[in-house]
Amino acid sequence: MSRSARVVPAAVSLALVLTLSGCDSDDGGDGGAQGSGPHAGASGVGDPYFPKAGNGGYDVSHYGLTLAYDPDGNRLTGRAVITARATQALSSFDLDLHGLDVTKVTVEGREAAFDREGQELTVRPRKEPAKGETFEVTVSYSGAPRTITDPDGSEEGWLRTEDGALALGEPTGSMAWFPGNHHPSDKASYDVAVTVPKDLTAVSNGELTGERTANGRTTFTWHTAEPMASHAATVAIGRYTVTRSTTKDGLPVYVAVDPSQVTASREVLGLLPEVMEWAQDNFGPYPFSSTGAIVDRPEDSDYALETQNRPVYPGAPDTATLVHEIAHQWFGDSVTPRTWQDMWLNESFATYAEWLWTEDEGGDTAEDTFTDLYEHGEESYEDLWDFPPGKPTSAAHISDNPVYQRGAMVLHRIRQTVGDDTFYDIVQGWAAAHRHGNAGSAEFTAYVERQAPDEDFDEIWDDWLYGDGKPSLPDA
Ligand code: TRP
Ligand code: ZN
Repeated sequence: MSRSARVVPAAVSLALVLTLSGCDSDDGGDGGAQGSGPHAGASGVGDPYFPKAGNGGYDVSHYGLTLAYDPDGNRLTGRAVITARATQALSSFDLDLHGLDVTKVTVEGREAAFDREGQELTVRPRKEPAKGETFEVTVSYSGAPRTITDPDGSEEGWLRTEDGALALGEPTGSMAWFPGNHHPSDKASYDVAVTVPKDLTAVSNGELTGERTANGRTTFTWHTAEPMASHAATVAIGRYTVTRSTTKDGLPVYVAVDPSQVTASREVLGLLPEVMEWAQDNFGPYPFSSTGAIVDRPEDSDYALETQNRPVYPGAPDTATLVHEIAHQWFGDSVTPRTWQDMWLNESFATYAEWLWTEDEGGDTAEDTFTDLYEHGEESYEDLWDFPPGKPTSAAHISDNPVYQRGAMVLHRIRQTVGDDTFYDIVQGWAAAHRHGNAGSAEFTAYVERQAPDEDFDEIWDDWLYGDGKPSLPDA
């Protein structure tokens, strides 16, 4: 891929960061003149990379999902009970759902008209929710859930596996298995019940609150109390060797491993309590009420994912990947991007966590890693200088190396500028300030500036975060 080194003025870059703006998306299809009367909720929240992701006009507080899956027939039957608050008077509103057949929709218990176009499920309630009103939507659906190929070619959504299925949601896969407001800016609590043939296990986020077998099928119920972005939600169905324990601090640990991966993953998974403790020392209190892992087979997914509480690993993870996904619990899952442009806020911290772990284990220091990348990075990461982490070229590039490696270099430049004490204050303070919330790049840069008011970060933001080409370093 060839890209010329073009210098974009910082003001332009910053303007691009601030494009998310509530319900005034220009693709709502509901025309202008909205006034204060009921009008259609927008079909997207205005994400600069995924314009149809999420929906305007309401805010979900809870998903109650009742699912049944038959792996042999690849048939998913679902009922989603969605509790939401209207942020405008709603003549209609959209949910995102990819594939599957919707059989019935109710709003506040009354059957509602609906239609579908692409990923938009448009619901027309008989009684229009008023602005500020909390309302409940129930969607009944079934069918063969689909795999979604995301813009960079990787597979997500509902992935069939040898012995069941695996649902992965980043960035847009969750709409393949439940209807919702599928954008990271709308987090909610979840109750997920999954019924599967009784020789299988169904694992999800949060804590297991029940397991009941009847008529040859077992229902597993999972509860996630802390706000969760839908892309961090998962369901893993299959044969798993399950290990339950608690950490020294009393945190429940639920680890589910495909039997073929048990031996290979034993040693690294044994490090989980230590990595959790190390992460808390570095990032502050753990944001969730349980931890663990889901290890499926290597061929089940092309990548690991920071599913909340319980990351998914395709095959036995190495230590760096374990550290990376655990760090995401703070950065990505608890502090969640406002838009997909802010992906670097997830991946830079998770990647930097790998550097820090290596440093703390007595290996290369983060300074070594930074210098090595600066001097020879393009040998391992061909695209390293192709675009700045704060402004990926397109949706196809939000998970590319500049977001990870060059993103981590941004954090290291901050550390070089402020020193270790302030740097760790920034890392922990940032995680605390936006715990269980959303935050974007402009908030991050402003936060850093507030924590170190005597330092000048212009060059870091202009060149490293938003500037095209390989930045220069200040003379030593
Ligand atoms: N965010 C994941 C991680 O870093 C990786 C990931 C999720 C990914 N979806 C992707 C990588 C799509 C490439 C393409 O742990
Ligand atoms: Zn990551």
